[in-house]
Amino acid sequence: MRLIIHNDSAEMSQWVAQYVVDRINKHKAATDQPFVLGLPTGSTPLGTYAELVKHYQNGNMSFQNVVTFNMDEYVGIPQNHPQSYYTFMWENFFSKIDIDPNNANILDGNASDLELECKNYEAKIESYNGIDLFLGGIGSDGHIAFNEPGSSLSSRTRLKTLNNTTVLDNARFFDEDISKVPTMALTVGVGTVLDANEVLLMVNGYSKALALRHIIEEPINHMWTGSALQLHKKAIIVCDEASTHELRVGTVRYFKGIQKLNNQNEFQSS
Ligand code: PGA
Repeated sequence: MRLIIHNDSAEMSQWVAQYVVDRINKHKAATDQPFVLGLPTGSTPLGTYAELVKHYQNGNMSFQNVVTFNMDEYVGIPQNHPQSYYTFMWENFFSKIDIDPNNANILDGNASDLELECKNYEAKIESYNGIDLFLGGIGSDGHIAFNEPGSSLSSRTRLKTLNNTTVLDNARFFDEDISKVPTMALTVGVGTVLDANEVLLMVNGYSKALALRHIIEEPINHMWTGSALQLHKKAIIVCDEASTHELRVGTVRYFKGIQKLNNQNEFQSS
């Protein structure tokens, strides 16, 4: 696992966007197959989406041969609700790039058969031979996608009940009114994320510091589902200084030292 620490979330977002552009362009040069990108929502990736839009506008890349799969979607609010992840993705990203709408996959939280919706989602990912790069964030409780504490670390796409921490965290998007926050969601599983060729998590802000410690320094534990990334063959965590607050000084220095060396061969190792 790589841990790449930036001064702030703006730097973090620029770095991640450049990384994604680099991956997509390298893939394009090597094959006609689409690049399959897993995507998160939330406040963390907003800067990265804005940077990716800039790259697209500057002609550095195209999303024409990119297929995306979003991590999760709420159950119980309409697709056109301002806080649905469908709305989030179209407002902040998809409407500003040249992706084919048919290639932008988002779980349907209003499907009549939610179980079948999840099964079909897994099958569709598999039909593309899996995900090349899964971008994600983490919750303050260490969740990855909506895999709340206690989720199976081999879980697949399914219906999940959200926990109190997540509902409270998300109240800021629902007028600070907990009663308006959906309590169920469809989410890819930890196993689905782990199957990706590469996983890149973005972590910023002090509120994620404890979770980051559990993911980096503590043993793999289903109570901090992001810690499952320790098992992944190519996992990168890109974070800001504030989120490293609970890490040991030695851990921070260790990864910064490695990063210094890696900068000489940027984007090459894991
Ligand atoms: P946030 O959410 O980016 O809005 O903090 C991240 C998450 O819950 O995975």
